[in-house]
Amino acid sequence: MSNSDKKKQDVARAAIEYVEYDDIVGVGTGSTVDYFIEYLKPLKNKISGAVASSISTQKKLEANGIRVLDLNDVSDIPIYIDGADEVNANLQLIKGGGGALTREKIIASASKFFVCIVDESKVVDVLGKFPLPIEVLPMARSFVAREIIKKSGMPVWREDFTSDNGNIILDINHMSITEPIKLEKELNQIPGVVTVGLFAERPADKVLVSSDTEVVELKIK
Ligand code: 5RP
Repeated sequence: MSNSDKKKQDVARAAIEYVEYDDIVGVGTGSTVDYFIEYLKPLKNKISGAVASSISTQKKLEANGIRVLDLNDVSDIPIYIDGADEVNANLQLIKGGGGALTREKIIASASKFFVCIVDESKVVDVLGKFPLPIEVLPMARSFVAREIIKKSGMPVWREDFTSDNGNIILDINHMSITEPIKLEKELNQIPGVVTVGLFAERPADKVLVSSDTEVVELKIK
């Protein structure tokens, strides 16, 4: 196993501490979460079920015998576990590297407590080095791209990718995101934008960070 995989595995294992008996667990998407699903498997008869943030996660949960619940049938999600592409010291995130940002944001918003699991390479001072994913209705692609250029962003169409919701992704390069909440609101206002991969208005409640030697909680600034 590579060093990077070991860090993902370590932080995924640490997140299991936050799952309690009878919980409905929101489950994110990505390679770090894949390890979390492995650790969730032995608890499958102790939890009430899981709400998946993507079709891929749903399939992995089912393959591990974990009961998958529809968000529409669930009134309370006590805990959501998900990875991120970048994290700052306010626990604000860039997500969507795997293209699952819309369902991830819905479940994060519907959950009482969001534990984000990352390795140390994801922690940054200023968000934006990782291209910011935006999910967009296909017919609005060029319009939204032009609007983003007006805001000094460099949108790149993630070609050959369709989201679980049938939409496209624009990845915005060269953004130094000094005011994440303001930018999230502004981008959300562009007609055709479905979801912005900035999780600033609803940040994580806790971020666990793994290094070669330990898993620690990220200190809030
Ligand atoms: C998917 C995501 C993932 O959480 C993010 O891309 C991190 O993935 P990984 O754990 O594979 O590094 O937002 O849409």
